[in-house]
Amino acid sequence: MAIILPDLPYAYDALEPYIDAETMHLHHDKHHQTYVNNANAALEKHPEIGEDLEALLADVESIPADIRQALINNGGGHLNHALFWELMTPEKTAPSAELAAAIDATFGSFGEFQAAFTAAATTRFGSGWAWLVVNKEGKLEVTSTANQDTPISEGKKPILGLDVWEHAYYVKYRNVRPDYIKAFFSVINWNKVDELYAVAK
Ligand SMILES: [Fe+2]
Repeated sequence: MAIILPDLPYAYDALEPYIDAETMHLHHDKHHQTYVNNANAALEKHPEIGEDLEALLADVESIPADIRQALINNGGGHLNHALFWELMTPEKTAPSAELAAAIDATFGSFGEFQAAFTAAATTRFGSGWAWLVVNKEGKLEVTSTANQDTPISEGKKPILGLDVWEHAYYVKYRNVRPDYIKAFFSVINWNKVDELYAVAK
């Protein structure tokens, strides 16, 4: 067994004009494939630890020291991207009544949630991710991580994530990360977010 690059759940051009097909090809076929290849290379050095990346990254101290950072980077890169593809859709979706109520209760309104998420995505310096997570208290929280670090390593369950590495937007949006963040809100798969929230809360 080895970790395998999952197919996109839609066509490469399905998210146009918000996310362009060239970006999707590069991002999925090249960047994500590289994380998969490098995660497999690390895991092959320690077959005794298995391949359950979520379990391993939930307890990074359990990962053998010689492959720990490689798995944080590349195992995290695989998990984050596999989730990210599923969090987008060309179809119009909306949060369930239950999730919408939780968003209102936590942030005040959907608009205030969007502003908080946008701020997290905008101000994450360099490469990383913005997240909506269910934290250890079972509450919604907006956060961000550097590089390919996953909130799972902080005991948080990601239910929405946005890749803000330049490779995610530079082909179309150049240096204008805020326009990419705004576009992302047009392609969020709220059905998937609802599903993750139901399991995580
Ligand atoms: Fe990425």
